[in-house]
Amino acid sequence: MPAEKFVVTPYEVRGAIDYDRLRELFGTQDLGPELLARLEKAAGAPLPPLLSRGVYYSHRDLAGILEAAEGKKPFFLYSGRGPSGPMHTAHLAPFELCRWFQERFHASMYIQITDDEKFWLRPQYRREETYAWGIENLLDILAVGFDPARTRVFFDTRSIGTMYSLAVDVAKRIPYSTVKAVFGFPTSTNIGLVFYTALQSVPCFYPSWRTGGPVPCLIPCGIDQDPHFRITRDLAEALGYPKPALLHSQILPGLLGGKMSSSGPEKENALYLNDPPEGATRKLKNAFTGGRATVEEQRRLGATPEVCSVWALWRATFAKDEAEFQTVTRDCRSGAMLCGECKGKLTERVLPFLAAHAARREKLRPTAESLILESAPGSTSSSGGPPIPPP
Ligand code: TRP
Repeated sequence: MPAEKFVVTPYEVRGAIDYDRLRELFGTQDLGPELLARLEKAAGAPLPPLLSRGVYYSHRDLAGILEAAEGKKPFFLYSGRGPSGPMHTAHLAPFELCRWFQERFHASMYIQITDDEKFWLRPQYRREETYAWGIENLLDILAVGFDPARTRVFFDTRSIGTMYSLAVDVAKRIPYSTVKAVFGFPTSTNIGLVFYTALQSVPCFYPSWRTGGPVPCLIPCGIDQDPHFRITRDLAEALGYPKPALLHSQILPGLLGGKMSSSGPEKENALYLNDPPEGATRKLKNAFTGGRATVEEQRRLGATPEVCSVWALWRATFAKDEAEFQTVTRDCRSGAMLCGECKGKLTERVLPFLAAHAARREKLRPTAESLILESAPGSTSSSGGPPIPPP
């Protein structure tokens, strides 16, 4: 078999990703129109843009979640964030999808903040730093609009007391050879990272463990996170818990092409939630597009939205409805709208969004603290919130 031209793991995303091929390689399922129609029906509302526009394109066992939803049985949501710096707009996608599920199905939501994982990942990170980013990132996540009564947070270095017994059970079932093969770790990898995948499994099982009955879990996440959950799914049955279901998104492109990444040196490559208006305006102005070399050519031949970082922002976040999304796409393809005009329109949408987001997040500091799961000294039960009343 020829070597693939791209690499996708939780710790490395590189090359031009062929998403259909990636689905084959990972052995995940196509998120086809039938499942989407079923979901729309169960939700009793139109699908959110991330689903209707194909940003989420692959899944594992979504049918099991649909059965629960259709039978009005509980399931819960889980997603997370490795805090190494400020968040950008693409980082909100899984949380926006979670919020939609929470609203439509009154589902509980667990957010994991993996300050330990990020600390272990890069030699240059300090623990105080990943911790502080964890708190800041959590505010951005909560600003998406979760219901505090149904939302709890595993903040790894603070919540370890509530997580550890379950992590111990999980860790015993993961041979070192699996971690080495799945993540491609060299033997120089620190043992924190080798253990870490056990912690990412914990939220998947936590409600089942606490309530003593199976509670299905749905994880919206980037497809790069799938390898962790392959391990989780493989050991779930042996521990007597349901396998978590997944919804996978494509990796959203950066403004200069490539993955929208915050760990690269290229701060111009992403639109950060804390960018000041001038910065956001400049980045959008310089963004990579699918335009032609000259205005004349573009008017005549049109542009290519599929390769454009600006179109990707319209698609995932900023086109407010289907009609607007179709108009942007059509006028781009036909050459009726040039890139400068498109960027100007998007900027007008982005600046108020960033301002509103900033205002919302600042009010959430006390809420964030109250949602973090922590175990009281000398006790085995959690303070800090849960258990969320059994779903
Ligand atoms: N490992 C993820 C990251 O580096 C963080 C994370 C933890 C996560 N739990 C998750 C992501 C569940 C998606 C779903 O960003």
